[in-house]
Amino acid sequence: FAEDGSELWLRYKALPVALSKEYSQQLQFITFETNSPTRKIAGAELEKALKGMLGRVLSKSRKIQEKTIIIGTLEDKSVRQFISADTLCVCGDEGFILKSVDFKGDKILLLAANQDIGLLYGVFELIRQIQQGHQLSNLNLKEKPSYNRRILNHWDNLDGTVERGYAGHSIWKWDELPEKISPKYEFYAQANASIGINGTVLNNVNASPKILSDEYLRKVKVLADIFRPYGIRVYLAVNFSSPAKLGGLPTSDPLDEKVQDWWKKKADEIYNLIPDFGGFLVKANSEGLPGPQDFGRTHADGANMLADALAPHNGIVMWRAFVYHPDGDDRAKQAYKEFTPLDGKFRSNVIIQVKNGPIDFQPREPFSPLFGAMKNTNLMPEFQITKEYLGMNTHLAYLGPLFEECLDADTYVLGKNSTVARVTDGSLFRNKVTAIAGVANIGEDVNWCGHQFNQANWYVFGRLAWNNKLSSGEIATEWIEQTFSRDPEFVSEVGSMMMQSREAVVNYMTPMGLHHLMGWDHHYGPEPWCAIPNARPDWMPSYYHKADSAGIGFDRTSTGSNAVGQYAEPLRSLYENVATCAEIYLLWFHHLSWNYILPNGNNLWDELCYKYSSGVNSVKSFQKTWDNQEGKIDEERFREVQQKLAIQEKEAVWWRDACLLYFQTFSNKPIPEKLDRPIHQ
Ligand code: GCU
Repeated sequence: FAEDGSELWLRYKALPVALSKEYSQQLQFITFETNSPTRKIAGAELEKALKGMLGRVLSKSRKIQEKTIIIGTLEDKSVRQFISADTLCVCGDEGFILKSVDFKGDKILLLAANQDIGLLYGVFELIRQIQQGHQLSNLNLKEKPSYNRRILNHWDNLDGTVERGYAGHSIWKWDELPEKISPKYEFYAQANASIGINGTVLNNVNASPKILSDEYLRKVKVLADIFRPYGIRVYLAVNFSSPAKLGGLPTSDPLDEKVQDWWKKKADEIYNLIPDFGGFLVKANSEGLPGPQDFGRTHADGANMLADALAPHNGIVMWRAFVYHPDGDDRAKQAYKEFTPLDGKFRSNVIIQVKNGPIDFQPREPFSPLFGAMKNTNLMPEFQITKEYLGMNTHLAYLGPLFEECLDADTYVLGKNSTVARVTDGSLFRNKVTAIAGVANIGEDVNWCGHQFNQANWYVFGRLAWNNKLSSGEIATEWIEQTFSRDPEFVSEVGSMMMQSREAVVNYMTPMGLHHLMGWDHHYGPEPWCAIPNARPDWMPSYYHKADSAGIGFDRTSTGSNAVGQYAEPLRSLYENVATCAEIYLLWFHHLSWNYILPNGNNLWDELCYKYSSGVNSVKSFQKTWDNQEGKIDEERFREVQQKLAIQEKEAVWWRDACLLYFQTFSNKPIPEKLDRPIHQ
């Protein structure tokens, strides 16, 4: 059958005979009461996986004996025999313990959790261990997710299009629901559960008020019912003007009692249909969308009104901090300026959703200075899994290192080791509501994500949301072994290609801290020269690169826009000083002369040329790496990736040539002799 990528990482292919024998000797019996929908799913998944990988199923047994796996919660006597409530309590509601325990001189496996959903996550972990050929006899895992809410944000419109979606139309068939149910819904839930994702916002942040209509809520209910046993809650993005636009009220002012009442009734109606509904995601007063400021109110007034409507049902409000206006000040500073004065003014069931960087999902940005700056407010990171600015569905770019770079970045707000991960996961500020969001890259394409390797970005988001201490390299290995092959050479070569791939994109698109040089509205391909008369200046690339005959880069130091002032010390001083500012952020924070000499002795112009060229060279080396894998995986996926790499190579050259030729009109310097001439043949 076709090797088209539709099974994602959940391919339970037969293991080599020797390995399969080894597992079969350790695993022969299963003690597991599958008496709830979630347990049924877990049991069936394990059965399917073992059948595929080992070619056999386990015999069910009530009696504990050697070569058994025991699965259950403390409700199960078999589990109570081996584990106490005290030991399990560190796992919380969703975690699990998976370990090898002694039984009458033998080793048996125990998978225990406080809730059934923990058992499902544990089963997926066990499957992952076997898929990767790991030893079971030394297993000793104690897992608890880093964030309570691990959420995909779909930017899916009700007409089936997807904003910034590059994998075809939306998988939600709104016109067919609630009657017709696509089999994809359940597989979607299964794939998400396998990596620990437990929430999904079904619709675009640029939300249509219609999503809250009775007609649509009935459709949403069907999806929520399918997702529930997989531990996935449904959330909706809402339009702040819904009371007026959908409810017919004369206003949507959050301090108006009738408006408040409308939202309360709407929340009651939703929870009546979907008792475990997660809550609302709101984009307000951003890019032309309505919000509380339209009525002279603050973000806190708006968010709190919605929070009060949801609180009786335990729902939350995820209020986005993605705000900027063409007001003359540096766009990178605006979210901080608008939100920090509101610190401490939000209800406890509000969480501010902050994009990883201060601008907009660029190939590289420093972390948003909001992280750590609102000590009395819940804050969650938002990543973009769909690669709006990183080559969409044609370029191979593994985003693990990008997510990791942000999560591991030290904000220094409470001294050293105040990483973005710790600021947001509750370990620094003890927040009760913790969450993390990723803008989904999922669509109707057979391979789900538009590029075989884009699946890895969905995967790594889920895995880091589950455990923000995992390394992106480890996760890449996991993904490759499950998705393609366990051949050690393949894993090492392809893994190293993946780990370099995001840096390659940075180099051929926006090296050394440059940003937003993409085509101004579609964001694909280079357009640093773009200047549309009367367009918003902050949508034009020249706003960001500021190239002129004197040099290039955005001066965000204290003598420039002073965006550095939003970071805690010692970062502020490190960024402020051109000698200590990390090279990766140099032109983000500084406007430098073309003749500026870098520590390696190159002047800035030459260094830019080298960086752009090294990006192209990396892609050429990825092509070689991939060509070497021919025959090691199926022909279908091999060719597809090979062809996309050919497009990527062509476009990397396009990026290099376009940017260098354009910037050369300011630098007036030659391209260093050693490098390939620009101008694509
Ligand atoms: C980007 C993107 C928009 C999106 C916006 C957002 O600007 O280009 O399509 O609506 O982010 O995050 O709200």
